[in-house]
Order: sequence, then structure tokens, then C-alpha cells
Amino acid sequence: MESTSSRDRYVFIETFGCQMNDNDSIRMMALLEANSYRKTDRPEEADLILVNTCSVRDKAEQKVYSTVGRYKSLKEAKPELVIGISGCVAQQAGASLLKRMPHVDMVVGTHNIHRIPALVNEVLAGQGRVASTEFDEAIHTEKYSVNSTALKGKVKCFVNIMRGCDNFCTYCIVPYVRGREVSRPAGDILGEVRALAENGIREVTLLGQNVNSYDGEVTFPELLRRVSAIDGIDRVRFVTSHPKDLSEELIHLFGEVPELARSMHLPVQSGSDRVLERMRRGYTVSDYVAKVRMLRDLYPDMAITTDVIVGFPGESDDDFEDTLSLVSEVEYDGMFSFKYSPRPETEAAGYPDQVPDETRQERLERLQSIQKDITLKKNTAMVGRTVKVLAEGPSKADASELTGRTSCNRVVNFPGDAALKGSMVDVLITEAYANSLRGICRA
Ligand code: 5AD
Ligand code: SF4
Repeated sequence: MESTSSRDRYVFIETFGCQMNDNDSIRMMALLEANSYRKTDRPEEADLILVNTCSVRDKAEQKVYSTVGRYKSLKEAKPELVIGISGCVAQQAGASLLKRMPHVDMVVGTHNIHRIPALVNEVLAGQGRVASTEFDEAIHTEKYSVNSTALKGKVKCFVNIMRGCDNFCTYCIVPYVRGREVSRPAGDILGEVRALAENGIREVTLLGQNVNSYDGEVTFPELLRRVSAIDGIDRVRFVTSHPKDLSEELIHLFGEVPELARSMHLPVQSGSDRVLERMRRGYTVSDYVAKVRMLRDLYPDMAITTDVIVGFPGESDDDFEDTLSLVSEVEYDGMFSFKYSPRPETEAAGYPDQVPDETRQERLERLQSIQKDITLKKNTAMVGRTVKVLAEGPSKADASELTGRTSCNRVVNFPGDAALKGSMVDVLITEAYANSLRGICRA
């Protein structure tokens, strides 16, 4: 795409939802930068506004409509402004978004990100408003690798290793909006990580809906070995693991590969076998607990985090109590908890025994208050320990301080020289809070 005028064209991208979407936004930015756009943080200044959307719960979806609605006045003041919607809501609602929101020019589905520059050109050339939401079976690396100034000066980033999901948990819209599971070839992933390492990246998080079923010429454990062996890569993480596919081989790998960070996000969703079955999760509470025990026995310092849904259709008081018992037994290092939200097309949305919202709200609050105490207790247990922190840069609250994360993925703020950015620093933990730790450098 040639620049249409001599002045710079600016793009503003607003992102909702998960890490997959964060990473897609970075890819969009990279593509647009390669087509003479520059990034702006001010929508009023933009020639192109992209809203990258999430539809995992109804609340996230509603936020999209209000956000895009806010840009209507900008479009009225500047008719040549192009407004696009991408991501999961775009995939789900498709061209109907153009009807619903006359100030939107462009709808781009989850498999069509690479087409954004061409689609913007079509709109600018006066060819009308466009929707591109067809699924595409192949996973082409040029569509997935990221080469962006968005990563300049960064110490860590995400790397897509697969997309889509084949599990069809009965509550989840992801398989419908992200399509079937496809793995990226290992060679492509390794090439990308090497390039990232050469550009200063020290930590990568391998990204997929269900990384344990990765199948791109090598197994997932082998991919982790090879990524970890790349010069300059000091730390490797991965999300998300599905408990049913977490293998003993992978569990043992943490003992073999020092670069593998000691953190594991292992979404349990519920502590009741009856509910797990109706969610189609493919494991029982005891299967799950056995894997957690194995991880904790082998690696006492490993942080285990989870996702929980409360108020799934048919969840009784007893089922919910079982979830609370599980949470108290496992003592998660952190948790994301959600009220069940019925999603279009999913099986559970049609279940007759939906739980009233007051009950869902009550359960959410009880669960969160129990977890809050556990998280603080776990953070407090870090005080007095010296841990390796990968320094990422100045802290948000106080630019004279550095921020980084421990191997077990806890945020640590500490006084230190800006030159330490990108290095592993030994930090003595002195204070614990709900969401972070404070410490001092040990020379
Ligand atoms: N309602 C509530 N939470 C959901 N999640 C996925 N679908 C739904 C839904 N319909 C949660 C799950 C998942 C996380 C990313 O979002 O806990 O692990
Ligand atoms: Fe959704 Fe289940 Fe796939 Fe996760 S594994 S993306 S919860 S269908």
C-alpha cells in the first residue's frame, strides 16, 4: 500500500480480551507500519481506528458496542476517518455490524488480519464498506510472525504456536470464532524466536488455546526444548494448558530445562465432577488434583494459577461448595474467576437450568474473597526470599524504580538502575501486596 499523501497516516488500535488478542493487535500494528502507518495513542489524531474485540462473555461484547459508538462523533467531524472492527465479535457478527453501526467501514474476522492493509485501501478507494470473515484452513507463517516497532525496547513478548480450538467445552465460544485447531510448523516458530532474541527479547510466552495438543512436526515438549536452547532466550512460558492434555513428560521437563519458568496456568473451571462433565472438560477433580500434586511435589516453588466459572447451568449449592473446597485445598497462587455467561451457538446456552444472576453474583463474591486471602498469603510467603527478576523497565507507578517478574510470574518493583533492563537481577523481597511484591537488589 502506497501512502496516499505525503503526511503520515496514523492508526489507533484499541484491544479487548485475552493475550491472543493482544498479540493479534501487535501483528496488526506491524502490518500497518509496513504500509506507512504510524502508531498513535490518541484516537482524535487517527486516520484509522481499529477496535480488536472479545466475545468470550456478554459483558466484553457489550463493551465493544459502547466503545465503537464513542467514535461516531470523530467520524462525523472527519468523514475520511476509517473505522474497523476486528477480533472475535467481528468474526461472530460479521457484516451485520455494518448494518448495526453505519459509521463502521470495515469488519475483519480472526483469520483475515493479514488482509487489513488491502481492506483499508478498498475503503479509501471508495469501493464501499467491507466485511472479511471467511475462515482459512492453512496457517501461513507470514501471517503470524511479528516484526514491529511495537516490540522495540521490549524484553518479553508472545509467540503464537497455534490457533483455534477443537475442544468445544459447552460454555465456550472460542471454537466458533477462532476456528479449528491448527499448529504452526516448528521451524517457523524457531525462526521467529531467533529473530526476536537478536532484537533484545529475553522471555517468550508460547501462545495457544490448548498448547499441550501442539502438533507441528515435533511434540510440544520438544518444541519447548528447542525454543529454550536459543541463544539469548533466558525464560520461556506457555499458555494455556488444558488439564486433560498436560502430560507427565511435560511436567518432568521443568526439571530438565532451566529456562522454563516455574509457573503454570491450569484452568480448572469447577470443583464438581458433575459440572465438569456438563462442561465437557474431559477430566475429573481427582485427575486434576493428581496433576497439581505432582507439580507441587516436584517443584515446591511453582506458581499454579487457574480460571473458574461460577453459576454454570445446573450448578447447585453443593457443586459450588465443592469448588470452594478445591480452591482451599489447592491454594492457587492466582485466579481469574467469572460469572457464567451464555454465548450464542454454545451448547450450555440452551441448557434449561440456568442459574439466576443474583446467585451467580453471590457465588462470585464468595469465591473471590476466599481467593484474595490465599493470594495475599502466598505473596507474603515470598518475603525474605531472594529471587531472580527479569527487569523489564521503569515501573508504572514510579519511573525511578524498575519492574519485572519472578520465574513464578509475580510482579516485583525495586529501586535500580535503568541500565539493568533486560537482565536477570537478584532481588530480596521485602514487602508483599495483593498484586505485587517490593524488593531491593542484591549486588
Ligand atoms: N462464561 C464465563 N466464563 C467463560 N470463560 C469462557 N467462556 C465463558 C463463558 N461463557 C472463561 C473460562 C476460560 C476463560 C478464558 O474465560 O474460565 O478459561
Ligand atoms: Fe474454550 Fe474449552 Fe477450547 Fe479453552 S479448551 S478455548 S475453554 S473450548
